[in-house]
Amino acid sequence: MSSPLILGIETSCDETAVGIVRGRKLLANVISSSVEEHARFGGVVPEIASRAHLEAMQPVIVQALSDAQVKLEDIDAIGVTAGPGLIGALLVGTSAASGLALGLDKPLYGVNHLSSHLAVDALDESHKLGPAIGLLVSGGHSSIIQVNDIAQSVQVLGAAIDDAAGEAFDKIARLLGLDFPGGPEIDKLAKEGNESAIDFPRGLSDTDYDFSFSGLKTAVARYLQKTPNAKRADIAASFQEAVVDVLLNKSLAACASTGIDTLLIAGGVAANSRLRQLAVQRCAAAGVLLRTPPTALCTDNGAMVAVMTSLAVSAGVKASHIGLEALSTVPLSQPVWA
Ligand code: KG4
Ligand code: ZN
Repeated sequence: MSSPLILGIETSCDETAVGIVRGRKLLANVISSSVEEHARFGGVVPEIASRAHLEAMQPVIVQALSDAQVKLEDIDAIGVTAGPGLIGALLVGTSAASGLALGLDKPLYGVNHLSSHLAVDALDESHKLGPAIGLLVSGGHSSIIQVNDIAQSVQVLGAAIDDAAGEAFDKIARLLGLDFPGGPEIDKLAKEGNESAIDFPRGLSDTDYDFSFSGLKTAVARYLQKTPNAKRADIAASFQEAVVDVLLNKSLAACASTGIDTLLIAGGVAANSRLRQLAVQRCAAAGVLLRTPPTALCTDNGAMVAVMTSLAVSAGVKASHIGLEALSTVPLSQPVWA
């Protein structure tokens, strides 16, 4: 089917989000976040997230249909994040999506949240879809991927062996006394600091494409203990530089060794301003075409699920069955499942 009208639902963590696309064209992207309800706990509380999804689901769907100026009966297929994520949160989304698909008698696609982060690139219709090296950096995952066809064929080249990049940002923010989620807070504070002030370790710099941020986390904690009066902004900037440096070195090494000259950066940490700035410089120097989604589409949203589903429908991928299983962990090599 060309240019299908797709409604996509995302509830893997603390955002209840619905996106609507026609083909690769974005028509609506509505998000209701429960992040403020979790802030005082310093992390997402699954039970609170699930309840917030239940309350927000219907109004968010109604708002998305209104923004897109389409009727529910015009939708060709329903897409939903079926994993990875918090299981109770995922179940709210998959139940809502199954109900809609059943009621409308339309196909249901349970899609991979991680693949959807990468698929967001397709929302820029000027982009030719083709092979790319993907750097996927979110709260729960950091991977380098060879993307041949996002809906059907991706190959993971390397991944975090301990903390994900976003998790490292969140933990260091906590050490620095910053609010949750920590990524945007560190990004902001780092702007007032010197990224060369402290030479923090670059983990696993001599292996291929795996990441490790736990040594860096320990180094920052030790530095804070030994130097309690150190300028917080310098620590934030130097920590951020260590993360970003490793992410880009490995991604560009993957481009060089595979001969793929496009780098696609996606996931919540792709919103980081220093990562985006350094990526522009280093990709230009390496002759690599850089693709980064607009910052608002880097963190979790419904548009990414809708466009991922649209790519799957257009590629003729088989639909999922009603009542498909929500999975808390799923490999990136499984973009859609039955
Ligand atoms: O993709 P995402 O919204 O949710 C997951 O799938 O995990 O990513 C959330 C992560 C959080 O760890 C958050 O701190 C991080 O992305 N993040 C950032 C920035 N904005 C969000 N990290 C660094 N700099 C940012 N500007
Ligand atoms: Zn995400």
